[in-house]
Amino acid sequence: MSFAKLEPAEAASLIRHDMNVGFSGFTPAGSPKVVSVALAEQAIAEHAAGREFKIGMITGASTGASLDGVLAKADAVKFRTPYQGNGDMRKAINEGRAQFFDMHLSQLPQTLRSGALGEVDVAIIEAADVTDQGEILLTSGVGAAPTLARMAKKVIVELNESHPKELLGIHDIFEPQDPPYRKEIPIQTVRDRIGTTRLWVDPSKIVGIVKSNKPDEVGGFDELTDTTRQIGANVSNFLASELKAGRIPREFLPIQSGVGNIANAVMAAMGDAKDIPAFEMYTEVIQDAVIGLIDSGKIKYASGCSLTISPELLQKVYADLKRYRNHMVLRPQEISNNPEVVRRLGLITMNTALEADIFGNINSTHVLGSSMMNGIGGSGDFTRNAYLSIFACPSTAKGGKISTIVPLCSHIDHSEHSVGALITEWGVADLRGKSPRQRAETIIENCVHPDYRPQMRDYLKLGGANQTPHTLSKVFRMHVQFQEKGTMQGVDWS
Ligand code: COA
Repeated sequence: MSFAKLEPAEAASLIRHDMNVGFSGFTPAGSPKVVSVALAEQAIAEHAAGREFKIGMITGASTGASLDGVLAKADAVKFRTPYQGNGDMRKAINEGRAQFFDMHLSQLPQTLRSGALGEVDVAIIEAADVTDQGEILLTSGVGAAPTLARMAKKVIVELNESHPKELLGIHDIFEPQDPPYRKEIPIQTVRDRIGTTRLWVDPSKIVGIVKSNKPDEVGGFDELTDTTRQIGANVSNFLASELKAGRIPREFLPIQSGVGNIANAVMAAMGDAKDIPAFEMYTEVIQDAVIGLIDSGKIKYASGCSLTISPELLQKVYADLKRYRNHMVLRPQEISNNPEVVRRLGLITMNTALEADIFGNINSTHVLGSSMMNGIGGSGDFTRNAYLSIFACPSTAKGGKISTIVPLCSHIDHSEHSVGALITEWGVADLRGKSPRQRAETIIENCVHPDYRPQMRDYLKLGGANQTPHTLSKVFRMHVQFQEKGTMQGVDWS
């Protein structure tokens, strides 16, 4: 290989204060983990010498401790986009030390190409292999790597030996042209491939290769609880009854499943559901439960942006890649989450709400309207364009002190128009074809925790006969009481 071999610190030294740096991968899958650590050490040294050092940080989505974590702790982030999920980064954002702007994940590459986010000075791309001609074999996540690598002035390759070269064939790399020259994205079925198996970068931009063998830092999931198990069962029973009623075609439709504990529990329940036929997934993140369902034959094929699975499971997949390659494809986020494709394929989308309101609006991102949790991720890409859009969440949080269903969400990511059904452990509120008042009645009686139902009924009565009966002076009383007294229970509406 003709590229310079660099130590992590040498590679990091190519990055200066105020540069914009793009990172490959999507979730901790496929994101760099070595140069980033050296970069954080460089930032700490610069700060100690009294000099400023902060970078603009552009990723595919959330990353792990060796990227988001170290850079946040080193106070080395000027801005950060898009989705994140690392505790240290979340803290830096909510303390105002890093400016975070949240974006729909499918829109990031196009916005980058438009120039609205500035230039990409350096891209760090994790690879399983690279040729002298600049052909890069990506690893477990694609994210925005094709666009970041093409736009970057310089590219550093982190060649990670923990990812096998047999990954060749799992990726489908495709970058659409920008308007007004864009053509249709020619994906007609979940399995269609429209691009190349490797990412190509002008070799003259590759400034060096850094060796790595650090595995992806993917965390596990919480054990299923009675609540998450019941939510999963409610979602899958709802889908089975929709299928029986003929509102979902007999052949079934591709599934998109969100991220986190609830999404994992829902997938597990779908696997157990006898009334749901084997299905395909057109989704963003391929989580642990999907692999088990591929093994059992319940999932026939999964299209995603990353293999975000726990380390032991990833090794199992890597040991049998020849078989798994026949059941999955990894695409750039612009394609895995593409609204045109989502609408064409007719996805059933299943995402998690942090908070929902009685009229069907959803907050996926902000705790008490102010603190960023993770970000909107791909939830908007999918739900707005779904055939059937489902949101699920437990009816309470923090031991029952918070009702996740409130009069009005303290922040809105998905409006009432993008939500077909809301599901908690108590039941299903099918919101389709219902006015706001009817939605509120259905949500209160089927989804709200029984401890909160009387107070939600009383709130609804306050608003009289309006189309969306809100009482503005009281609408956030539950949130305010939680801040003052530590519980949303027992709100007095008088
Ligand atoms: N107010 C305050 N905190 C709340 C809350 C509320 N209304 N609802 C939940 N929480 C807290 C929980 O108590 C928990 O806190 P803890 O970590 O201190 O225990 C935390 O939020 C996560 O809750 P959990 O029920 O475990 O959720 P999850 O792991 O299923 O994740 C989201 C839920 C919403 C955070 C996650 O799905 C997400 O980031 N979604 C947005 C992006 C998205 O949908 N992407 C998918 C598109 S492909």
